Amino acid sequence: MSTNKDDLDYETTGHEWDGIQEYNKPMPRWWLWTFYVTIVWAIGYSIAYPAWPLINGATAGVLGYSTRAEVAKDIAAVDAANAAINARLEEAELTAIAEEPELLTYANNAGAAVFRTWCAQCHGSGAAGAQAGGYPNLLDDDWLWGGDIAAIHETISYGIRNEENDNARYSEMPAFGRDELLEDEQIAQVVNYVMSLSGTPQDASMVEAGAEVFEAECAACHGEDGTGDRFQGAPNLTDAIWLYGGSYEDLTETVVNSRFGVMPAWEGRLSEAQIRAVATYVHGLGGGEDAPAE
Ligand code: HEC
Ligand code: HEC
Repeated sequence: MSTNKDDLDYETTGHEWDGIQEYNKPMPRWWLWTFYVTIVWAIGYSIAYPAWPLINGATAGVLGYSTRAEVAKDIAAVDAANAAINARLEEAELTAIAEEPELLTYANNAGAAVFRTWCAQCHGSGAAGAQAGGYPNLLDDDWLWGGDIAAIHETISYGIRNEENDNARYSEMPAFGRDELLEDEQIAQVVNYVMSLSGTPQDASMVEAGAEVFEAECAACHGEDGTGDRFQGAPNLTDAIWLYGGSYEDLTETVVNSRFGVMPAWEGRLSEAQIRAVATYVHGLGGGEDAPAE
């Protein structure tokens, strides 16, 4: 049975293919107009704003708008708002920052932000360092190079054992095994002695001989009693806090090949206000020390 257009109430376009007819059902007017408006809008938009991708960047748009410029403007506004307090931070005596509540609060907040951005990848987001990874915990009062605000400020400004800053803190432990400064036997002895300083040696019979090796080869840097020397960044070996691990194997590796922890310099990369802010923040984490009496 064929369907004839005459049987239907619907309007058709009059087209017919092999007996199939096409209804005439246009989109509603409101829809069509909305569609036209979006086309006009898109053309206008792509003339006014950055739109068409080219090989180097995109068409700029006649309004000259750029999201990057917006961000730069926002940053400039924040900088301008903070200019006065940043200037105060840069001019204050380092030890006086903690005595001015407003400055201290600002420095701690700004310092925490700097830390999250620039320091956390090595020292951990909570500043607890990395276990046996050579990145020191900054929360405790065990300092390699000093924990008063001036020492922390110096460490951050110039860094440690880097080649980029002439003022970087520097020292180098000899590689006693690699450079054949000690026999394997002597290394085993001194490692047992070092273990005995904070816990249990692996072989107690070696401790006595190890003490002699230590006195001759290690005390100049780590101190007669092994408590370290901040002037040389030589760690305290008696506190069971290890930068590179305290197992027999880890200690042997340290003595055989030595270690060479590098920290970048931040002078020039961060503003002086940022460096002071993050120094204040680190000093306030728990292990900060008072400035030495003059
Ligand atoms: C690329 C890794 C790295 C980054 C990034 C880094 N540090 Fe360090 N930092 C180290 C290492 C490694 C040491 C230990 C060096 C050594 O063995 O003496 C160290 C040591 C320190 C010390 C000395 C600790 C002590 O016991 O005396 C302070 C303070 C410090 N960092 C603060 C910071 C701050 C603040 C930042 C961010 C502005 C930062 N570090 C970014 C690797 C890093
Ligand atoms: C010239 C100075 C110097 C001498 C001599 C020296 N050390 Fe060191 N030692 C250092 C320094 C500096 C570090 C820290 C290296 C670093 O942080 O990268 C260190 C690190 C260590 C560590 C790692 C501590 C930790 O927390 O992981 C051990 C263990 C150690 N030394 C043992 C010895 C022993 C044992 C001797 C003697 C056989 C010795 N050192 C001789 C300067 C010295």
